[in-house]
Amino acid sequence: MTYKFSKRVPQSDTDAVGDILKVAGDPKVMSFAGGLPAPELFPVEQVKKAADKVLDEKGQSALQYGSSQGVPELRDVILKRLKVEGIDTDTDHVMVATGSQQSIDLTGKMFIDEGSTVIVEDPTYLTAIDVFRSYGARFVGVDMDEDGMRMDSLEEALKANPDTRLIYTVPTFQNPTGRTMTLARRKKLVELAEKYDVMILEDNPYGAIRWEGENLPALKSLDKSNHVIYMGTMSKIFAPGLRLGWVVADPKLIKKYTMMKQSADLHTDSFAQYVAAEYFAENDINEHIAAITALYHKREQIMVNAVDKYFPEGVTHSNPEGGMFLWVMVPGVEDSQKLFDAALKRNVAIVPGDPFFGNQTIPGTFRMNYSNTPEDKIEDGVKRLAEAIEEVMADGEK
Ligand SMILES: Cc1ncc(COP(=O)(O)O)c(C=O)c1O
Repeated sequence: MTYKFSKRVPQSDTDAVGDILKVAGDPKVMSFAGGLPAPELFPVEQVKKAADKVLDEKGQSALQYGSSQGVPELRDVILKRLKVEGIDTDTDHVMVATGSQQSIDLTGKMFIDEGSTVIVEDPTYLTAIDVFRSYGARFVGVDMDEDGMRMDSLEEALKANPDTRLIYTVPTFQNPTGRTMTLARRKKLVELAEKYDVMILEDNPYGAIRWEGENLPALKSLDKSNHVIYMGTMSKIFAPGLRLGWVVADPKLIKKYTMMKQSADLHTDSFAQYVAAEYFAENDINEHIAAITALYHKREQIMVNAVDKYFPEGVTHSNPEGGMFLWVMVPGVEDSQKLFDAALKRNVAIVPGDPFFGNQTIPGTFRMNYSNTPEDKIEDGVKRLAEAIEEVMADGEK
């Protein structure tokens, strides 16, 4: 059979990142590759209690078809979380989605035609790149520095691409760099979106996991003219397996999202929504987030100390104040895959930088995750990774 695929289907069967995560899953390999939360902190017992209560008291609704916009009890929980981020809104502005991944997908479907321009941070969340590419996006990458997306580069990009459909950004503890956009740049970004009349898609899965510095307002809270669509998720503060996320936007847009979600999956799992709402009613989520934050901070400190101690001279890294990732830049290395190969020879996995870039890659970069590795294993992994980097750097000098 010759399959007559649509243009949205990837032409090639190579799944570089999938392959990396597969080898990283080998028990022999110490993986700094994935982006997984620490499973030992999942509140299993509390979720069990919540699930029992939901089945006892609301079993019929929880197992029935439900509203495409989401279970009202969960939307109320979401409104409370949004308030913490300075977004004071109401239930008409919120739709529950099947993880923020679905919010990204529906946004791509809604705004991108073949050849539409999407502006992204270079580097950015690679699965968002895959989604937007499947809808035919043409990427314009904007440089970053330690303060996030550079606004001078963004304005140049907007001037050169007046038909831009979306600016996609992860302003806080970005994936893959761990960097955070400053307040001044947040204000400027919203101002530029208004000036050039372009939508911003703000993706904020990591913002609550902060151990240093001050909380910064969401772009959405600075937006007075409906130029920002905001996406949140339970994945990093609660449990990714429940697949619960949300979109916050102008009710006119939420109506469109809801119609498009109906076509995609009718609605997000009702049982998961009720269980999450019950969990939030009975437990202090801020306490839980504090426990996650404390553990990730400990792991990040161990990783950064080891990186500073063992990595060769000239190698630099980001300094996250929260979140789950460290971004490493190795000078003089043209192909980041070589870093991956050399690390894997020593049974350590990282994600090479290339797939995170919308257009031009910065060579010699890679992402490290610290949230998923026990404290007593991190230093040994970093030591082996340091040897791998030395080998690749020495090779480059020949
Ligand atoms: C930046 C970013 N956006 C979205 C997602 C998807 O998250 P969810 O589990 O909510 O679909 C991730 C997952 O790692 C992410 O890093």
